[in-house]
Amino acid sequence: MNTIYFDHAATTPMHPAAIEAYVACASAGPSNPSSLHGSGRAARERVSVARDSLAEMLGCSPAELVFTGGGTESDNAALFGAAFAQRKKGRNRIVATAVEHHAVLNVCRRLEAEGFELTILPVDEFGRVRLEDAQAAIDERTAVVSVMAGNNETGTLQPIAEIGEFARRSRALMHVDAVQAFGYLPIDLRELPIDLLSVSAHKINGPQGVGLLYVRRGTPWLPSLYGGSQERSRRAGTENVAGIAAFAAAAGIARAQRQSRWQHAESVRAEALRQLAAHLGSERFVVNGHPEFRLPHVLNVSFPGISSESMLMNLDLAGVAASGGSACNSGSLKPSHVLEAMNLPSDRIASAVRFSFGLGNTTDEAEKMAKIIATISARYA
Ligand SMILES: Cc1ncc(COP(=O)(O)O)c(C=O)c1O
Repeated sequence: MNTIYFDHAATTPMHPAAIEAYVACASAGPSNPSSLHGSGRAARERVSVARDSLAEMLGCSPAELVFTGGGTESDNAALFGAAFAQRKKGRNRIVATAVEHHAVLNVCRRLEAEGFELTILPVDEFGRVRLEDAQAAIDERTAVVSVMAGNNETGTLQPIAEIGEFARRSRALMHVDAVQAFGYLPIDLRELPIDLLSVSAHKINGPQGVGLLYVRRGTPWLPSLYGGSQERSRRAGTENVAGIAAFAAAAGIARAQRQSRWQHAESVRAEALRQLAAHLGSERFVVNGHPEFRLPHVLNVSFPGISSESMLMNLDLAGVAASGGSACNSGSLKPSHVLEAMNLPSDRIASAVRFSFGLGNTTDEAEKMAKIIATISARYA
């Protein structure tokens, strides 16, 4: 068991209040929201209460929210659903950024194999899309544009409001993967030009295997799962009632504590950087990602001369859990497509480690981690 968990972008510990909500539902006895009897009605009520509070938080109608099995399913459902609905209107172009999560990128590639034209937007050295590139790529043949709010590997934020306006002008649909940003960035769907939005519970101290897809009313969109009429026939399958209730509990806390959560993550991150400079020396590491437009909980650092795998293994042995890019890639140890898209030198890509902070972390842990890294680095000097 690692004593210092700095991998919150991969998954987060469940908040005690979310666990409590989960247990309350799971121990309430068998209950299917589709059943007409009392326990079914109680389950339906739990799902409705959760939906209402998430809708209020996002600034949308509860009817515009579809519960899913997580961020990956929300991204898949958003893109397949929008692309196939839009193709009926003669729109067959997809636009996405080079730094999207694979849950978006691999769907785009699949759509390309289905005959859609795919435009991948490049990013600058900080991982941010240039507005002129986005503007030039979006036209009246564009079906859907997919741009993440905040990157899972670097934390870099994208100009989603501006790109959403370009999409709106061309009557293309705008999808935003807000899996990492939700809970940190305020998202008001009354203000933002977004048609589809993906969220995942386990990144905000909720349970794994639950997510949310926002589909703006009137959006041309087709479901991906067919079966029963759950979720207004937009996502068939018996609802994960306990997971949904726990998701709403975690989201409520993230909302109520948004500023303090941001400040807490930011303070651990800042301390990590300060202590790395003190114990390792600022010439021995370099930070990847945007210095200003970024989420507070992600810190991507390269330690040139030490491979990511060596650093991660040594950190693990010393009780520090971190990651070498996105979690889905960490098993395959492929160079990060995000850092590659940023055109970073190869030794910087090969030595990148992602630390990500959250519930339960302390600045003392950041100091400990920096000292451990200084010790590890001395072995490779
Ligand atoms: C930006 C982003 N999108 C999508 C996902 C997939 O979410 P889930 O793990 O809930 O399927 C992740 C998870 O790492 C992510 O960071």
